[in-house]
Amino acid sequence: MSSGAPLITYEDKAHDISKRVLVENKNVTGVRLVGETLATQWLREVMVNGNFTDELRRWALAPLKEPPVGGVGRGKIVCVCLDVSEKEIIETLEAGADLETLKNKLKCGTECGSCIPELKAFEVKCSTFNVGSVSD
Ligand code: FES
Repeated sequence: MSSGAPLITYEDKAHDISKRVLVENKNVTGVRLVGETLATQWLREVMVNGNFTDELRRWALAPLKEPPVGGVGRGKIVCVCLDVSEKEIIETLEAGADLETLKNKLKCGTECGSCIPELKAFEVKCSTFNVGSVSD
């Protein structure tokens, strides 16, 4: 695979897996994953953030929920309505925020409310363990 190729592809007909990532000017402009879709979330984040590094390119077709290097930055989107990520929530909680502060500052949990249980879980875990990641 050439590092400058605009279309990165992987085909595994025996397992009905087909993957394509279209790259233009170091930005991911299209993704099609069929049969194995673990990378969907982080590839979506790369499309939005435009941060497709050579390191991330190496892992674009791998069956990984997260690339092992060259992190994409925001992490999982917890509040889909307001596009608030796990990283933003953890950073805000580690700065001393509670659920109400999260709602006021990041606006997460203020639309459909379906993310509130997860926000509460983050609040508990961050206050209990004061750790950088609670997705384990
Ligand atoms: S997902 Fe957070 S308010 Fe809807």
